[in-house]
Amino acid sequence: MNSFLKTDNSSSDLMKGLISQFDVNSYEERTDELSLEVDPIKNSNRPLPMDKEINLDPNKTILSKTDSKGIIEYANDYFIEISGYEEFELMGQPHNIVRHPDMPKTIFKLMWESLKKGENIHAFVKNLSKDGRYYWVLTNFEFKYDEEGNLVSYYAKRKAAPRNAIFEIEKLYYTLRNIEARQGMNTAVNYLHGMLEDKKMTFNEYNYNLLNVNENALKNYFDNSKPEVQINSPEEKKKGLFGRMFS
Ligand SMILES: Cc1cc2nc3c(=O)[nH]c(=O)nc-3n(C[C@H](O)[C@H](O)[C@H](O)COP(=O)(O)O)c2cc1C
Repeated sequence: MNSFLKTDNSSSDLMKGLISQFDVNSYEERTDELSLEVDPIKNSNRPLPMDKEINLDPNKTILSKTDSKGIIEYANDYFIEISGYEEFELMGQPHNIVRHPDMPKTIFKLMWESLKKGENIHAFVKNLSKDGRYYWVLTNFEFKYDEEGNLVSYYAKRKAAPRNAIFEIEKLYYTLRNIEARQGMNTAVNYLHGMLEDKKMTFNEYNYNLLNVNENALKNYFDNSKPEVQINSPEEKKKGLFGRMFS
């Protein structure tokens, strides 16, 4: 793991400064584009991030259901276990209760833009547990509509994020956070769009590329139903999607 990218206890003073500045701004500059009007726990009560990772079970799914504003209505047992909170602490809370300060705002802006359109987004997210440890997930969203076609619920399924992809995404997120802290979120959003245009990829495609899988393979990974898809070589066929993603 590249210690240069760490921003927790082991981070440099510069990064600590940048992150704390980012955090303050993220609360004060809340815009309508983002989900929530209230912070779930007062700033001083937010868990203090520490440089300790929770290794997720790749066979398990972290699931939550929210209303259209991202207020948590349900979380499965694995969500409860990994987040470190009790049900009564999570239900009715905004989903940013697990937001980690290392996450760029830019990624959540992109996430909400997709969600409001009812479009799935596969994003790598570093989450913060109640005890200050972190865990990396890959997201998948499903949508529920009422009879008039209004979006009423989001279902977020999260799986363990493969290690090699985390290494790459940490570098991108580090860059985005620095741009956000120094130049503001819009500049960081423009940078991300520029990077994707340069690569001729959508954000999802960029993430599939990091995972070395296509959209169908990822869908099956989340469905847990047909793991043996998009096999590229006989050797990889033996490993299957799961083996390839986590090797
Ligand atoms: C269904 C759903 C699941 C979400 N899951 C996460 C998550 O696991 N971690 C996270 O930090 N934000 C998650 N979010 C986004 C949060 O609502 C929030 O936008 C984000 O934490 C950034 O915080 P902020 O909006 O206060 O800036 C989720 C939103 C929805 C609708």
